[in-house]
Amino acid sequence: MTTPLISLKNVTKSYSGMIALSGINIDTYPGEIHCLLGDNGAGKSTLIKIMSGVVQPTSGEVYWKDKSVHFKSPKEAQDLGIGTVHQDVGLIPMMSVARNFFLANEPTKGWGPFRRIDHSKAREISISRIKSMGVSREIAADQLVGTMSGGERQAIAISRAVYFGARFLILDEPTAALGVKESSVVIDLVKQTKSTGTGILLITHNATHALSVGDRFTVLTQGQVVDQFKRGERTREQLLDLMSGGVKVESVLNGR
Ligand SMILES: Nc1ncnc2c1ncn2[C@@H]1O[C@H](COP(=O)(O)OP(=O)(O)OP(=O)(O)O)[C@@H](O)[C@H]1O
Ligand SMILES: [Mg+2]
Repeated sequence: MTTPLISLKNVTKSYSGMIALSGINIDTYPGEIHCLLGDNGAGKSTLIKIMSGVVQPTSGEVYWKDKSVHFKSPKEAQDLGIGTVHQDVGLIPMMSVARNFFLANEPTKGWGPFRRIDHSKAREISISRIKSMGVSREIAADQLVGTMSGGERQAIAISRAVYFGARFLILDEPTAALGVKESSVVIDLVKQTKSTGTGILLITHNATHALSVGDRFTVLTQGQVVDQFKRGERTREQLLDLMSGGVKVESVLNGR
């Protein structure tokens, strides 16, 4: 049996008495895409905040490779290899691709008082890493991120997280703001990242995207897991019904 990367066991989170998550059990594995689905307010962001050390659970346990962990900060989670790409991807539009890729972690050359940023190395590494994600358009290291498309920004953020050692990557709605073509680029990036053995938690509202890449699925409704299944075990219609809390979505749409 493969050892899971992150596991949550019986995790609950309440905010001043309001229960955001209740009794959550979830296992994630290397080289697998685990899709986390659920409607607005279902608890998806709260769950990833717990996994990435932004908030602590009210009760229950978080495990990393079968060892109990208590993250006090996002840095502690990052140091173990947990990378998070938030929906806004956290890049700085007025800075270049290469600067964004390294953000204060630039490679240096020289020693002691002569140590300085190795700009040509930074350019070379950032571009080769982003290209390795399968981005077809020519990207220049000096291009400002603000001039790039949403899919290209996702490519920078994902390749950056992997370069800095992410063994488990949390992607919060990476396709939410994107059109059809850009979304398919990002879905390919996610598949590409999985093929390197990285474990992925993919948060999405989009059942079609989830079913096209997911290996395992967890559906949240009002802070609780309503279903957990593996690839091929549910139809798209069943998934849509689950996400809407049991309402027959297809029949509502068809009845319009
Ligand atoms: N810091 C907070 N303080 C109080 N309540 C919170 C806090 N963060 C989240 N909640 C509540 O917890 C519940 C779950 O919120 P969460 O943001 O995790 O949902 P979500 O599934 O990410 O929704 P969305 O799809 O809209 O992003 C909501 O009812 C929300 O109002
Ligand atoms: Mg959210």
